[in-house]
Amino acid sequence: MSNLRDKHVVLGVTGGIACYKSADLASKAAQEGARVDVILTSAALKFISPLTFTAVTGRRAWTDMYTPDEAGRFPHVTHSRQADLIVIAPATANTIAKLAHGLADNLLTATVLDSRAPLLLAPAMETHMWEHPATQENVRALKERGVHFVGPEAGHLASGAEGVGRLAEVPTILGAMRYVLGLNGPLRGRKVVITAGGTREPIDPVRFITNPSTGKMGVALAEAARDLGATTVLVHAPLQVPVPYGVRGVSILTAQDMFDAVMAEVEDADVFIAAAAVADFRPARRAEHKVKKEGREGLVLELERTPDILGTVGERRQETGRPLVLVGFAAETENPVEAARAKLARKNLDIIIANDVTAADAGFAADTNRVVYIDREGRVEPWPLMSKAEVAERIIARVVEFGLLTKP
Ligand SMILES: Cc1cc2nc3c(=O)[nH]c(=O)nc-3n(C[C@H](O)[C@H](O)[C@H](O)COP(=O)(O)O)c2cc1C
Repeated sequence: MSNLRDKHVVLGVTGGIACYKSADLASKAAQEGARVDVILTSAALKFISPLTFTAVTGRRAWTDMYTPDEAGRFPHVTHSRQADLIVIAPATANTIAKLAHGLADNLLTATVLDSRAPLLLAPAMETHMWEHPATQENVRALKERGVHFVGPEAGHLASGAEGVGRLAEVPTILGAMRYVLGLNGPLRGRKVVITAGGTREPIDPVRFITNPSTGKMGVALAEAARDLGATTVLVHAPLQVPVPYGVRGVSILTAQDMFDAVMAEVEDADVFIAAAAVADFRPARRAEHKVKKEGREGLVLELERTPDILGTVGERRQETGRPLVLVGFAAETENPVEAARAKLARKNLDIIIANDVTAADAGFAADTNRVVYIDREGRVEPWPLMSKAEVAERIIARVVEFGLLTKP
């Protein structure tokens, strides 16, 4: 489901009030398939029990540097060598200061110093502590050494004040963990542009024509591309899910806006995936003021065609050779496979994903999708019902396999 699967994650928990949220983080990371070993500082133990973490990870939680495990090994060395990623959430000002200066006075700081795994810090503290020149200097030094940070965010703090210092939300931290784990993946150095959401075509200043797209499929594709190290751009109409961490969002409203944004982004892209539900027609004229109902029995709207984004990208790549891989979706209500094959040929695509949007468990708004994978080489594969995240992961895996990496 995500690149956390089968990864060894060391989760450091330090003594801030936000550490109750790290139990949720540990649980979610374990649910995504990571092996999560939690190390708590003695200050964290004032706020939360190791038992909570053992219950959600199914693994022993660690607190003491001087107690060897059952095999006689000392935990800072085993954790530091096995970790694929060390994440500290929340990271206190105190622990950040220790890490900046190379201190190793507890199990967590000793593990970090002994490890060469990537390190991700999610700071949480009062605004004054965060903004203090000492903390800022420590953060700068750590960033210079390649340490990754997620947050802190602005908002309500435990003291009751509002300001910068809130722990990043758990889904954001999970996104950052996946981003860091993916940095050396097979799409490293490759630019992947994806579209998502349903465009809005205005009738007047308060009304528009749209469709039920939530953007979930495009967002899942962006996560899957990011997880493999791609520089990922999501050109999106309004979404019902957030733009994932580590993905650059370009927010648009109309099909014309999406056309303009995509043409600007695909020039240097390696992959383009069109997963948005783009209006084919728009009102020929947009009323300057709200259309009044008084004195009208009805209203006739004249519609005109919108520009063909995928078709234009397909045409341009015949001249420019870019993007290297072109993927489309065909959301159909009848004969989706036939319609998709015709679209693949007409628009010069490499891969097309056909889905029947009349099925209740697939298409718009659903968290699952049932699709048929079709490619230029003649493969037609009906895939079983899967989560949109799994469909996305499979599509991105096929993009990688499609020969992209053998091209310059
Ligand atoms: C109620 C309470 C809440 C605290 N919250 C934070 C916090 O959010 N961030 C922070 O940096 N320190 C916070 N502290 C201070 C740390 O607990 C203290 O600096 C401690 O030495 C941190 O140790 P550690 O980094 O080893 O976990 C808090 C202290 C108390 C008493």
